[in-house]
Amino acid sequence: MTQAMTTPANVHNLRQNRAEHARVPVPDRRRALVTGAAGFIGSRLVETLLGMGCNVRGLDSFSAYYEPRVKRANIAGSLTDPRFCMVTDDLATADLDRLLDGVDMVFHLAGQPGVRSSWGDGFADYLRDNVLATQRLLEALTRRPIPMVAASSSSVYGESDGSPVSEDAPLRPLSPYGMTKAAAEQLIDVYRRDRGVPVVCLRYFTVFGPRQRPDMAFQRFVDALEQERPLRIFGDGRQSRDFTYVDDAVAATIAALGAPSPVYNVGGGAPASVNEAVALLQQITGKPGQVFHEEYARGDVYQTRADTSRLREEVGWRPRTTLDDGLTAQVAAYRRQPDPADPDLEQAER
Ligand code: NAD
Ligand code: UGA
Repeated sequence: MTQAMTTPANVHNLRQNRAEHARVPVPDRRRALVTGAAGFIGSRLVETLLGMGCNVRGLDSFSAYYEPRVKRANIAGSLTDPRFCMVTDDLATADLDRLLDGVDMVFHLAGQPGVRSSWGDGFADYLRDNVLATQRLLEALTRRPIPMVAASSSSVYGESDGSPVSEDAPLRPLSPYGMTKAAAEQLIDVYRRDRGVPVVCLRYFTVFGPRQRPDMAFQRFVDALEQERPLRIFGDGRQSRDFTYVDDAVAATIAALGAPSPVYNVGGGAPASVNEAVALLQQITGKPGQVFHEEYARGDVYQTRADTSRLREEVGWRPRTTLDDGLTAQVAAYRRQPDPADPDLEQAER
C-alpha cells in the first residue's frame, strides 16, 4: 500500500518530484480511465485520447439527467475502436480497484452538472455524483497514486465584478451545484495534502460545441431555431459567459495531467453576452426565430470571465476556437445528428 508522508516540507518535495515525473507526454502513457466518458466533454476527450494512440477505458452510468440515448450516440463512434473499452457502472458503487487496474492516467469528468436544476429535491444527485463519487475515487487513488485531472467549474466562484477572475479568488458559489463542485475541490485538496494523491482540478467556463448537453443554452437555442419553437432567454440577455469551445477544454484537460498547480481556470478568452450569442446563431442558422425573455434563473451568475494566465504560463495551453467558429460547428453537428429513434443506437450501451 502506498502512503505519502504528511509534513508540509515533505508534501512540498513530493509535489515537486511528482510534477517532474508526471510531465511525461501523454502518448508515452498507455492506458487512460475517463469517467463520464459518454457525456458531452468526456466523449470528445475519449476520441482525442484514442487519436493520440492511447488505450482508453471509459466509465459512465448513463444517468437519466438527460436522455441516455443521447449519451449512447455520443460514444457510439469510439465503440468501434479496439483500443476503447466502455464500462457501464456507477462511480458511487463500482469496484474501483478493478477499474484502475493497469491504468496510468485518470480523467474524472463524471458528475451531475447543471446550475439551475440543483435546487430542491434533485440536490441528492449532486451530492452523490459530485462529492461521494469523487471521494470514492480519491480513496482508491490512495492505494495506487495515478495522476488525475478532475473537472471542476467556474460556478465555484459565484458573482464577480466582470474583471478576469484568478484561481486565488475566494469561492462563494451561488448555486447548490457550484457548492458541490467547490466541496469536491476541497475534498481533492484534503487527499492531495494528506495522502499525496496527485490531482489537478480544472475550472471549465461554460463549454460549448458539438454534443453540448441538451439543457445548456446554445443547444436549446439551436433546437428552438431549427425546430421553429420559442427561444427563451433568461432575463435581459446581457449576462455574459467566457464561453469555451469543447476541443479547447479537452486540450487543456490532457495538457494539465501532472501540471504543477493544484487548480487552473479554463476559459475561452473572449466573453460574450447571451444576446450576442443568440444574434450569431440567428446569422449562422439563417433563422430569426421567436425570441422571448423570461425571469432570471436562480443560481445563475451575471458574468464570468477567466484569468487563464496560470494555464498559459505553466502548461502552454491557449484557446484556439472563436465563438463564431465554435457555434458554426455546433449548428453543423446539430444538423448531422442521427435520428434518436434509430434502433442501431441501442447497440452502443454495453
Ligand atoms: P455530461 O452530463 O454530459 O457528462 C457527465 C457524465 O457523467 C454523464 O454522461 C453521466 O451519465 C456521467 N455520470 C454522472 N454521475 C455518474 C456516476 N456516479 N458514475 C458514473 N458516471 C456518472 O456533462 P458535461 O457537460 O460533459 O460535464 C462534464 C464535467 O465537467 C462535469 O463534472 C461538470 O460538472 C463539469 N463542467 C462542465 C461544464 C460545461 O459547461 N459543460 C462547465 C464546468 C464544469
Ligand atoms: C454551464 C454548465 O451547464 C455547468 O455545468 C457549468 O458548471 C457552468 O457552465 C460553468 O461554467 O461552471 P451555464 O453558464 O449556466 O452553466 O451555461 P448555459 O446553460 O449554457 O447558460 C448560459 C447562459 O444562458 C446563462 O446565463 C443562462 O441563464 C442563459 N440561458 C440558458 C438562457 O438565457 N436560456 C436558456 O434556455 C438557457
